Amino acid sequence: MSGDLRSSHTLVTGATRGIGRAIVDILVQRGEPVVGVARRADPTFPGELLLADLFDAQARRQVLARAAGTWPVLRLVNNAGFNEMQALGEIQDEAVTSILDLNLRLSIDAAQALVPAMRAAGAGRIVNMASRSLLSRPGGSVYSAAKAGMVGLTRSWALELASAGITVNCVAPGPTATEMFKRNNPPGLARSEAMVRAVPMGRVGDPAEVAGAVDYFLSPQASYTTGQVLFVCGGASVSQTHF
Ligand SMILES: NC(=O)c1ccc[n+]([C@@H]2O[C@H](COP(=O)([O-])OP(=O)(O)OC[C@H]3O[C@@H](n4cnc5c(N)ncnc54)[C@H](OP(=O)(O)O)[C@@H]3O)[C@@H](O)[C@H]2O)c1
Repeated sequence: MSGDLRSSHTLVTGATRGIGRAIVDILVQRGEPVVGVARRADPTFPGELLLADLFDAQARRQVLARAAGTWPVLRLVNNAGFNEMQALGEIQDEAVTSILDLNLRLSIDAAQALVPAMRAAGAGRIVNMASRSLLSRPGGSVYSAAKAGMVGLTRSWALELASAGITVNCVAPGPTATEMFKRNNPPGLARSEAMVRAVPMGRVGDPAEVAGAVDYFLSPQASYTTGQVLFVCGGASVSQTHF
């Protein structure tokens, strides 16, 4: 079974930059095949790259069906996500739709497209990307709710799939140096600086530090680990200082 997992393809959504790319790099460095999904072409991408706007329900179902029909994908990383900070009273319907679509609906569609092959193989791995924000995110409650939802999916799927040899786990990063982080927390803003100060380690994480946790959950050695949430957050999830 271990051999099958390592030689099967891993599908990573949001694969060309940030945390997704760091996950891809770890797998490819070990010679494991990867299928990535992003909107824009990337000539440096070291695996198969499918282009689709995953906000678009039809486009995402087509691209997932194509991946499932083309490669033996036994591992899935539901990494793509979206956030827009909007405080209660200012929350726009459009933002709610985008945040729920790219975090929850996409993850559900991807699992439904790929689990049949995992069941047939009797082995599989799903890793869902949550966020430390699932604990609380004043000014970003919809994102917090969506990421808490990723934990609900993880724990429920873990039970549904346990007897099929498929594990489902979740990684919850704290502030991590990616384009999304810089976009939502522009350097120089008091709110951004307070957030970094509130991390007990006093710094943002590197995407590779998050990718290492994902890599463990994807590994054959993680075969008895399912339904778990691992915070990779410089201690922010156990601190009493909130951001
Ligand atoms: N960075 C953090 O501080 C942090 C903290 C906690 C949790 N997270 C979570 O970690 C995950 C990755 O975040 P990140 O910071 O690494 O993001 P990022 O740096 O913004 O990377 C985004 C990746 O997703 C792709 N992407 C974005 N929107 C897409 C769409 N609509 N359709 C297809 N591909 C799309 C991008 O490629 P294209 O632009 O070409 O589409 C790119 O490959 C997310 O779920 C996020 O919520 C991040």
